[in-house]
Amino acid sequence: MRKQIINVALVAASLALFSSCGFDPKTPGRTYMPDMTYSNALETYAPSVIVNEDGDSVSTRKPVAGTIPRGWIPADEKIRTNEAYLMSYMSKSYFTHDPVKWQEEYDKAGAMLKDPLEYNDENKAAGSKLYNTHCINCHGAAGNGQGNLVVLEDGSDGPYTAVPPDYKKRLAEIKDGNIFYSVSYGKGMMGGYGYSLNVTERWQVIHYIKSLAGIDGAATGAGAAKEGDSKDAKAEAPKADAKKKG
Ligand code: HEC
Repeated sequence: MRKQIINVALVAASLALFSSCGFDPKTPGRTYMPDMTYSNALETYAPSVIVNEDGDSVSTRKPVAGTIPRGWIPADEKIRTNEAYLMSYMSKSYFTHDPVKWQEEYDKAGAMLKDPLEYNDENKAAGSKLYNTHCINCHGAAGNGQGNLVVLEDGSDGPYTAVPPDYKKRLAEIKDGNIFYSVSYGKGMMGGYGYSLNVTERWQVIHYIKSLAGIDGAATGAGAAKEGDSKDAKAEAPKADAKKKG
């Protein structure tokens, strides 16, 4: 008899304990402390108790159509009034591993993007500084693809298994927009720099690498090739695997 009483008491206690659990996982069941269960703060973009004259109770107004993030296009007049500059900001290309799609994006950038910066010592000097920070380890001080990650001091192979092309050959074959695409989004075994260099910095570093390639000022594409260089302007999509050294 005593055992039965204990059993009944145990069942009653657990029923009481679980009575707040419902079958619907989205509702809290019986609420003992509503001020802890329900926040009084308004949820972003959720209906609220505040209703405007249009009957709209959403807690936060949505930005008007066409709104752009702060800083997306700089307030700088020089940039806002320069079509080529704006294009570098607005053209939306992206990196893809699908070689056909990649080639499409690369060609689009080559056709649409023009270098907005003036060729002067200031831009080249800024580009040189950025190059020494971000690119020199792979591309080398001379831009010949023999950076210290590729070739060690004693001449043996470095840890980086892909060999970057010699700028003298490669940059003469492609357009400024193609270079901008590769520097922004990466190509093959090279990562993109769109996240760490802003548009101006990317064009500055391009001025510098073109100077390493011996390309004169604003010359671009196959027209930038010098006598005896390859005139083949066709770009190759990045290969899936690392290039073998040799
Ligand atoms: C980790 C090594 C590495 C670093 C760092 C690196 N690159 Fe490269 N880069 C490569 C490799 C490898 C390729 C060849 C990619 C291919 O063709 O598949 C390449 C190719 C290029 C090309 C030719 C792109 C084309 O369209 O054919 C340009 C231009 C270039 N790099 C510029 C830069 C600049 C500018 C920086 C610094 C902001 C930089 N790279 C940093 C490894 C690197």
